[in-house]
Amino acid sequence: MIIHVYLTHTQPAPWVQGLQAALPEHQVGLWADGADPADAAVVWGPSQAFLDAQPRLKVIFNTGAGVDAWLPLRWPEQAVLVRLEDAGMSVQMAEYVLHALVRHFRELDVYAQDQALARWAFRKPRLRSDFPVGVMGLGVLGEPVARALHAFDFPVNGWSRSPKKLDGVRCFSGQAQWGEFLAASRVLVNLLPLTPHTENILNRANLSQLQAGGYVINVARGGHLVDADLIDLLNSGHLAGATLDVFRQEPLPADHPFWQHPQITVTPHTSARTLRDATIAQIAAKVRLWCAGTPAAQLPGAIDRQRGY
Ligand code: NAP
Ligand code: GLV
Repeated sequence: MIIHVYLTHTQPAPWVQGLQAALPEHQVGLWADGADPADAAVVWGPSQAFLDAQPRLKVIFNTGAGVDAWLPLRWPEQAVLVRLEDAGMSVQMAEYVLHALVRHFRELDVYAQDQALARWAFRKPRLRSDFPVGVMGLGVLGEPVARALHAFDFPVNGWSRSPKKLDGVRCFSGQAQWGEFLAASRVLVNLLPLTPHTENILNRANLSQLQAGGYVINVARGGHLVDADLIDLLNSGHLAGATLDVFRQEPLPADHPFWQHPQITVTPHTSARTLRDATIAQIAAKVRLWCAGTPAAQLPGAIDRQRGY
């Protein structure tokens, strides 16, 4: 079988070598214009030109969890898109979210400012019970994040499309329980996929329903957040701050107001990175499952095109 590698934002050569070593019975190569038609592809940063040139693809392995970049493209009818499931990302996501939450809750950013002034000053201890955290999305990444927050004794709410039961997490689901979920939360962590249903979900109307002094941690996609609404709610005092890892335009333009806002912390889409070795091992295992007879649409992580994730 021929497997093409098409990766933007990274050096593809070590991926080709690693995949070839993990799948010696197949022919792995870097895609280039005019390449032979492949059966499978390993892709990040898909382009229409690549898809149009590869009409025989049966399985496409996305080297990340989010597949929103694929949704506007035309794919070969028979092709199944398979996303990355965890592969070392959930522990990174949990440590990032916990760090952002604890930094805000323990006012460590205020102590950093005090240090710059050589000022020794205590802040009044705050109560965890005043900082209920709502996790939007209880999937491969959201569930372990919710569990980690619970292990740190924060009150945790979770919201998903279908109903869930998680020890220590108050679970809400669907549109019917959305308002109740927001009203029960002060800190909001976004781990939803970006789909037509979730685009712009972090908007003025929804963020206004968080408890006063709210805090937003967006680690999913920039298209979930209405930038101007966040800034207005910070400036009005309803929100106390935000940690943002993802943006509508990446890299975040140098003149974007998020960079300079004193209540916003910006990181460059780094909360949970794709780890090459773990990702290659996961893709190789799925290729073997497929070759052993599992239909592509039943591979773990296969995307439902209707749902968009
Ligand atoms: P996942 O396993 O597909 O989980 C998605 C969760 O969102 C599920 O619980 C799903 O509900 C819920 N959901 C989807 N649409 C919904 C809707 N309309 N209303 C309510 N809940 C909805 O995805 P994942 O692997 O956890 O990843 C989540 C996202 O994280 C990715 O799509 C990506 O955008 C982002 N991400 C970011 C980084 C980064 O470095 N910043 C890294 C990796 C991933 P059900 O359980 O009912 O299906
Ligand atoms: C990164 O953002 C991913 O979707 O894996």
